[in-house]
Amino acid sequence: YPGVTIRLCATSDIPEGEVLRVDLDDGRALAVYHWEGQFFATDDLCTHGDASLSEGEIEDGRILCPFHMGSFDIRTGEAVAAPCSIAVRTYPLTTREGEVFLVD
Ligand code: FES
Repeated sequence: YPGVTIRLCATSDIPEGEVLRVDLDDGRALAVYHWEGQFFATDDLCTHGDASLSEGEIEDGRILCPFHMGSFDIRTGEAVAAPCSIAVRTYPLTTREGEVFLVD
């Protein structure tokens, strides 16, 4: 129900500029980003194909998909480079005492 927080990882699990895949107990797979001191999360699955965004590179606030080099804004999920055209879902996060939580 709304307002539940789910622990994803420790802030120290993701170095600045890196991305980590986190699998939730309910089967969802998220890509969790650490960028310019903040944490963001999207679905791990690219909206263009069967690629794991957590295997891509963050560049200038965007995640580059490792398959066809499309990209998404990690803050909004907006598709910002072809062949990606459909936004990837984003998730609100909060950090507390060195841990990253999904606010579900
Ligand atoms: Fe991600 Fe094609 S699968 S850009």
